[in-house]
Amino acid sequence: MRKQLTILALLAAASLPAKDIFVNTPRTTLLLKAEDNKPLHISYYGDKVTDAEEVYRAFSLWQEAYPAFGLGNDFIPALSVRHADGNMSTELVYQSDKETKEANATVYTITMKDKAYDFYVDMCYRAYDNCDVIEAWSVIRNGEKKPVTLLKYASAYLPVRQGDVWVSHEHGNWGAEAYITEEPLKPGIFEMHDLTGNKNSYENRPNMMLSLDGKPQENSGRTIGAVLCWSGNFRFTVDTQDKKTHHLVAGIDDANSQYSLAKGETFTTPALALAYSDEGKGGVSRSYHRWARLNNMVHNGNALRKTLLNSWEGVYLNVTEEGMVKMMDGVKQVGGELFVMDDGWFGDKYKRSIDNCALGDWVVDKEKLPHGIEGLLAEAKKLGIKFGIWLEPEMSNTKSELFEKHPDWVIKAPKRDLKCGRGGTQVVLDLGNPKVQDFVFSIVDDMMTKYPEIDYIKWDANMNISNHGSQYLTANNQSHLYIEYHRGFEKVLQRIRAKYPDLTIQDCASGGGRVNWGTLPYFDEFWTSDNTDALQRVYMQWGTSYFFPAIAMASHISNAPNHQTARTVPLKYRTDVAMSGRLGMEIQPKVLSDEDKEQCRKAIADYKRIRPIVQFGNLYRLQSPYEKKGVASLMYVTDMKDK
Ligand code: GLA
Repeated sequence: MRKQLTILALLAAASLPAKDIFVNTPRTTLLLKAEDNKPLHISYYGDKVTDAEEVYRAFSLWQEAYPAFGLGNDFIPALSVRHADGNMSTELVYQSDKETKEANATVYTITMKDKAYDFYVDMCYRAYDNCDVIEAWSVIRNGEKKPVTLLKYASAYLPVRQGDVWVSHEHGNWGAEAYITEEPLKPGIFEMHDLTGNKNSYENRPNMMLSLDGKPQENSGRTIGAVLCWSGNFRFTVDTQDKKTHHLVAGIDDANSQYSLAKGETFTTPALALAYSDEGKGGVSRSYHRWARLNNMVHNGNALRKTLLNSWEGVYLNVTEEGMVKMMDGVKQVGGELFVMDDGWFGDKYKRSIDNCALGDWVVDKEKLPHGIEGLLAEAKKLGIKFGIWLEPEMSNTKSELFEKHPDWVIKAPKRDLKCGRGGTQVVLDLGNPKVQDFVFSIVDDMMTKYPEIDYIKWDANMNISNHGSQYLTANNQSHLYIEYHRGFEKVLQRIRAKYPDLTIQDCASGGGRVNWGTLPYFDEFWTSDNTDALQRVYMQWGTSYFFPAIAMASHISNAPNHQTARTVPLKYRTDVAMSGRLGMEIQPKVLSDEDKEQCRKAIADYKRIRPIVQFGNLYRLQSPYEKKGVASLMYVTDMKDK
């Protein structure tokens, strides 16, 4: 009898009862079930619940929280690795969990271990208490004696119960970003990915919504959003194999990106930010906007953004001192607060008068600007406006002093001729190389040290990673290129933000090529599209607003006829469309008639009056342009719902 009791006691100690982990935001719950030596399970994601038993009685998703390849899972896995001894299978079981409190969130970390190998995965969930967003990511640790190869390493997995589930996503290209497509999920695979390397939001975008109650509705229906916080290649897969569950797996695209994880090394995947609402797409958007403004943007998104004039469509590369001063005067006259000098101001040996040279040579072209940036800053000060400048720090041209000095700093495959971008000469610097990181940091640092009055930088990036090869990485680690590029990029941005927290920086990549939540936490706003045609902007801004708040969306009044589409739309229409984001101008003020100037002045004055509501408020999309009723309508409402 005594012996029997001892055995029972031992059993009880060895196997803890199953534990429910409630990952809660104010109105939502992600419910996990953890049990010693068993896989971690996701059992529910939706409206807030408090009673796990009720969930199990009514409904349970019951899927492994981070499904790995090789033992039983027959859909696309979240994780697939080759262990040091060649074993391709992984079996993760729960070991422990902890909760860490942060200022506005709680992070739940659940540690899993492979049953047979010294190989660990922490599944992490950050649940905010000021918005209904949960960030999910994995931390993969190799305790084996030799490197383990990561073949697939998604950020997270989410099961969704089948029914009439639809997916909404955006796609496009240069000048036509963020057009929305909505379609029902069918048996087979729904997939979205990006392979540009560094401009991941032109074509497919790293975000989607799933509407669980049929055709997506703006104000009703259970809806899940998923946003990958990563600026590089990504892949979203919804695998519909069986008749019960849609399996969503999202993360860095594994294509050509196998990662050799050294003994003792840890790999942290980027967060997949999930949002759930029963108020349709609008509810999910408002959660993301709130998450962005309160937790995820520089200045916490609570500093009003200035109205500005950007010089690009006014003069293109034909920058002159006289021209810049006149434009500054023009924006001042209509009540603008900032002037931004775009491309065309730099170059010494090679002058940036055409777009095939000088990127990397960030010195003032003294012929164009005899009094330098100092001269322009002095003029801006006289007028009482702020001054900003365009840079393209990650890039060079083969026709530049930088390239002549450091040909080894560019991304290039061995034994291959360079594939060049814009102007037939543009190349991308290898941000995986710490020397390049220092150089890129120094571009901004030197500029701000010399001219601390600069208020705004437009950070552009006009070329994809089109040469797969790093002159810095070893031959064995060439498949780390995409990862190391973005790690390097982030390190540079962190250094810049640590030193210049108050500088406003616009994220631009030939328009909206980098509208993603991997990059944006370091920036204040993005350039929505190089297409400034107000009619097309209605659609693009509509799509962009699914995941990004108005405060971050640069939206400019431009010329008529429009430079991209040759369409003429009335100035009132152009100003109204521009007022629905961060209002600016992309026009040569001297072409405006007195009447037009007066209209712009009035629009800017009106915008300043409503700016706090547009920039900090909650967005309600009232009438979709996609319904082709000849009208689109948006409403912005304060948190207090009093304006
Ligand atoms: C990109 C940007 C434009 C402009 C040009 C300058 O295309 O998207 O706004 O800055 O570069 O070359």
